Amino acid sequence: MWKPKVFVTRIIPDKGLDLVKEFCEVDLWQEELPPNREELMKRVRGMDGLLCLLTDKIDGEVMDVAGKQLKVISNHAVGFDNIDVQAATVRKIPVGNTPEVLTDATADFAFALMMAAGRRLIEADRYVRDGKWKTWGPRLLLGTEMKGATLGLVGFGRIGKAVARRAVGFDMRVIYYSPNEPKLNSDVKATRVSFETLLTESDYISLHTPLTPDTHHLIDSEALSRMKPSAVLVNTSRGPVVDTEALYEALKARRIFAAGLDVTEPEPLPLDHPLFTLDNAIIVPHIASASNVARDKMAWMAAQNLIAGLQGEHLPNCVNPQVYT
Ligand code: DGY
Repeated sequence: MWKPKVFVTRIIPDKGLDLVKEFCEVDLWQEELPPNREELMKRVRGMDGLLCLLTDKIDGEVMDVAGKQLKVISNHAVGFDNIDVQAATVRKIPVGNTPEVLTDATADFAFALMMAAGRRLIEADRYVRDGKWKTWGPRLLLGTEMKGATLGLVGFGRIGKAVARRAVGFDMRVIYYSPNEPKLNSDVKATRVSFETLLTESDYISLHTPLTPDTHHLIDSEALSRMKPSAVLVNTSRGPVVDTEALYEALKARRIFAAGLDVTEPEPLPLDHPLFTLDNAIIVPHIASASNVARDKMAWMAAQNLIAGLQGEHLPNCVNPQVYT
């Protein structure tokens, strides 16, 4: 029986991959690192569908090299700044993403980073391992507290709201900045403020905005200079939302207290980057959605989007529904 041909740019969790294999003839990229541009161009040629990751840059050229038969691009991520959606829309190619299923995992992780950075968890672990722990000390490794603190959310979509819900349990005051007027669900208590107010009033700032030309380096030296010296900044969105060099300067000069970064610019951050010399920076490898549950569901959803597109059906989660009009 004829099956559509698809290129899958990395090994994804079994449930999703098995589903794709059931319906498609799969060319699977099995390396640890993503295919480089040349490989991507080679492997995408003649494919009916593409299941890609946020590490793959998919632009109009890739779509054209694939050929006119390319029916769907399915991204194994909720964010889709790696894909030129406009180029896909012009070519009538639906693009799928994986919203909702990683919201809780990511919101949990934002909290993990807030607390780890604020309470100096990694620094404390290093202190013990380095044999520096001699006794209990009243001034040893002091950090910030959650109760009564103001949490400022930049972006107030699904993940921002999930973080706000968790903040209730910590007795925090929640404020948010969002350029558009998001619907406020009745179970989320938060106040909309200007960007300036968010920067000056927040004890914790957590970023939950997509990367767009407007949010590129939104947190720059000017924004950092407005924050409290006791502020903790957490980024689980996209690395380029923060100007890394400006953040390094602010952390080094202790103009803010600490930062927890799940994402960086670039990714990975080179090991000789000065940020690694600072105790008040925590850097982890883009794992906010990396719970077993979330990643299984992401793979499943990405597979479903792919198959729907190949079968000429509407994608369950489509970022450019204009292709259907
Ligand atoms: C996404 O899905 O966009 C996250 O950054 C990775 O899970």
